Amino acid sequence: MGNESLRVNLAGLSLVNPTMLASGILGYSAETLKGIVEGGAGAVVTKSVGLNPRSGYANPTVVQTSCGLINAMGLPNPGIDEFAKDIREAKAHLKVPLIVSVYGFSAEEYAAVAEKAVLAGADALELNVSCPHVKETGAEIGQNPKILAEVVSRVKGAVDKPVFVKLSPNVVGIAEIAEAAVKAGADAITAINTVKAMAIDIETTKPILSNKRGGLSGLAIKPIAVRCVYDIYERVKAPIIGCGGITSWRDAVEFMLAGASAIQIGTAIALKGSRVFKSVTRGIKAYLKRKGFRSVEEIVGLAHRC
Ligand SMILES: Cc1cc2nc3c(=O)[nH]c(=O)nc-3n(C[C@H](O)[C@H](O)[C@H](O)COP(=O)(O)O)c2cc1C
Repeated sequence: MGNESLRVNLAGLSLVNPTMLASGILGYSAETLKGIVEGGAGAVVTKSVGLNPRSGYANPTVVQTSCGLINAMGLPNPGIDEFAKDIREAKAHLKVPLIVSVYGFSAEEYAAVAEKAVLAGADALELNVSCPHVKETGAEIGQNPKILAEVVSRVKGAVDKPVFVKLSPNVVGIAEIAEAAVKAGADAITAINTVKAMAIDIETTKPILSNKRGGLSGLAIKPIAVRCVYDIYERVKAPIIGCGGITSWRDAVEFMLAGASAIQIGTAIALKGSRVFKSVTRGIKAYLKRKGFRSVEEIVGLAHRC
């Protein structure tokens, strides 16, 4: 069985394997993204970028818990005009699709950032409508199907590249939100962003993060994310990119059986380094062979058959 069994077509993007770097885990530099691709990722998603530079929140912005990380970075980023240089440089070196994650405070802003990202060389866009800790963007847009639909259709009208919409689990019905995004033109859904959480220091008696509340990622959120992917798969036809707590090939296979066509890895990079991508793809390949599947695409959504 050659590596062909791992290839996936994701909304028109050709991926050599279904693993992708999740947004925001590493910095912006082309060098870092190159390291991730050498580690075996089939595609990379950049940190979220907006129209104007933002310094983000004061430290501490990340806290480690017994079951994952809680972060409230506050979307620090250099702004799209500055970041365009890194996109160009990354594009010149990377042999895998480069997806730029964008956010905005209005539909016009999302579209303006998306347009600049595509001009700089983005192969696709991922709309961050799910950041749980920055007011008036992120989850506030992703929780409202009407505003979300407006954002998606504005961006689709501004660029001719695939548009992925990254959803928040912090909603009552994630499948309805996914449906609104797809009806407005989304080419794929990424599920999920972090789960609202907080941690308190019992000695100082104060919340640890400067923003008090943040988003939980890593092992603890995997079952929530699998359920979200399963729910969305039942509702929409667009491809789903699973994300949340994936650390091993077994996790990746579980997401694919739930309905994910590709998967993103974030927090596990802190535990396992960039080689996590190779170990996940190797494991998926061995699983396909053992089970008699010819292609990774054959297992997508299989858990819905029973
Ligand atoms: C430190 C940190 C920063 C993040 N920044 C972003 C971001 O800029 N944009 C975004 O869409 N998601 C961001 N995320 C969320 C991740 O992309 C991912 O959805 C989440 O961490 C769940 O996946 P994981 O458990 O594999 O980390 C961030 C997560 C972490 C831990």
